[in-house]
Amino acid sequence: MDMKTSTVENPDSSPGAILCVVGARPNFMKIAPIIRAFRSGPDPIHTHLVHTGQHYDAEMNDAFFTQLQIPQPDIELEVGSASHAVQTAEIMRRFEAVVDAESPRAVLVVGDVNSTIACALVAAKKDIPVIHVEAGLRSFDRAMPEEINRVLTDQISTLLFITEPAARNNLLREGLADDQIHFVGNVMIDTLKHCLEKAVPAAVTLADVPGNECFLKGDSGYCVLTLHRPSNVDEPALLRNILETVRTVSESMPVVFPLHPRTRNRVAELGLQDMLESDRIACLQPLGYLEMLGLVSGARLVMTDSGGLQEETTVVGVPCITLRNNTERPVTVDQGTNTIVGQDRAQILAAVNDVLESGGKRGRVPELWDGKAAERIKRVLNDWLQQHQAQRVAAG
Ligand code: UD1
Repeated sequence: MDMKTSTVENPDSSPGAILCVVGARPNFMKIAPIIRAFRSGPDPIHTHLVHTGQHYDAEMNDAFFTQLQIPQPDIELEVGSASHAVQTAEIMRRFEAVVDAESPRAVLVVGDVNSTIACALVAAKKDIPVIHVEAGLRSFDRAMPEEINRVLTDQISTLLFITEPAARNNLLREGLADDQIHFVGNVMIDTLKHCLEKAVPAAVTLADVPGNECFLKGDSGYCVLTLHRPSNVDEPALLRNILETVRTVSESMPVVFPLHPRTRNRVAELGLQDMLESDRIACLQPLGYLEMLGLVSGARLVMTDSGGLQEETTVVGVPCITLRNNTERPVTVDQGTNTIVGQDRAQILAAVNDVLESGGKRGRVPELWDGKAAERIKRVLNDWLQQHQAQRVAAG
C-alpha cells in the first residue's frame, strides 16, 4: 500500500500505547483530529495507529491520508475486500497478533465499519478496554450491517463517546452505564472545520467535465449524489428506479455523481451505464476529502445514502435528501438540514421540488459540533487513564 507520510510525530515511544484503529474511508475523517490531539499539546497520549486495509484504493485511502495529514500507520494489516465474515475474521486474526505484541492500555475504534467491531472484539476478549468514538447511534434497522457493528461494539466498550444526546438514551436502554457515556461532540466536524478553508472549489473539481457551465453557471445550481449502501445498489430493480429518478432530477438540476467502487461495479454488472449518460449528469471517480467538501459546500442540494454526509450538510447548511428509510443520526433531521425520503420516486421528486421552489430545509448546527470534540475526548481519556492506572496499582 502506497501510504503518504505523516506530519504529526508520535512524541512517546514507551510501551502500553493506545491502539487507534482505522479501516475504511469514513474512519479517516474521524481518526485525523483524534491523533492530532493525542500527539500534541500538554499531556500527550501515547498512541499507535493501526490500519486494517479494509479500504485500499488510491481514491478511497491514500488521498485521505495525505489531505487530512494523518500520520503513516504504525501497523498495517492489509486485509482488503472480502465477504463480511471473511473480512471480519481476517481482521481479527491479524489484529490479535498486534495486540499480543503491543500489550496496549486500550483499543480505540471509531464509527461502525467491519474494522470497528473486529478490533473491538479482539480487545474485549483479551480484557483490554475498548473506547468507542461515535457510540450509541441507532437506525433500528438490523438489516444494515453497520447497525450490527454499532450495537455489538457498544456492548463491549468501556468508554463511549457520543455525538448527540439521543445516543445516550439508546445506550442506557441497552444496559450501558451512564458514567461510561461522554457527550463530546463530533470528531467528523472537527475535520470539516479544520479543512473548510482548504476545500477545493467545485470549479476546479469539475474543470474537466464536458459542458461544465451547466453545473457551475446554471441558475438551478447543482445536486451532489452519492450512493453506496448495499440496500440501494445491490437490488437491481431498486437501483434502476433510483437512477431513473436521478435522470428526472437532472432535467431541472444537474447532478454530480462521484461513484463508490461498489456502485460502479453494480452499474456495470447490471448494464445500467446508459442511464447515467447525459450531459447533465457528471459521473466522477471517488473524490478526495477536500474536493468533496468543496463540491458539497457549493451545492444547492445533496442526495445521499451516506451517514457522514447527513452530518456534513447540516454543518455547511446545504439541504440533504437521504435516500434511506431511517437514519441513525436523528439530530440532523430534528435540528439540521436533513430529510429522510426513502427510495420512492414520487417522494424524492417532491423533496427536490421543495428545494427548487423554496430553497429546502434550513437548520442549525447541533450542540458541541464546534471543532473541539477530539480535545474533549483527550481530556476524558487522560483522566480515565490516570484513574485506571491508580486502580491497577492498588490492585497490585
Ligand atoms: C464500507 C462500510 C460502510 C461505509 C463504506 C464507505 C462496512 C460493513 N461497510 O462499505 O459502512 O459507509 O465502507 O465507503 O464496513 N472496493 C474497492 N476499493 C476499496 C474498497 C472497496 O474497489 O478501496 C470495492 C470492492 O469491490 C469491495 C466493495 O468495494 O468488495 C465494497 O467494499 P467494502 O469495504 O466491503 O464495503 P463498502 O461498501 O465500502
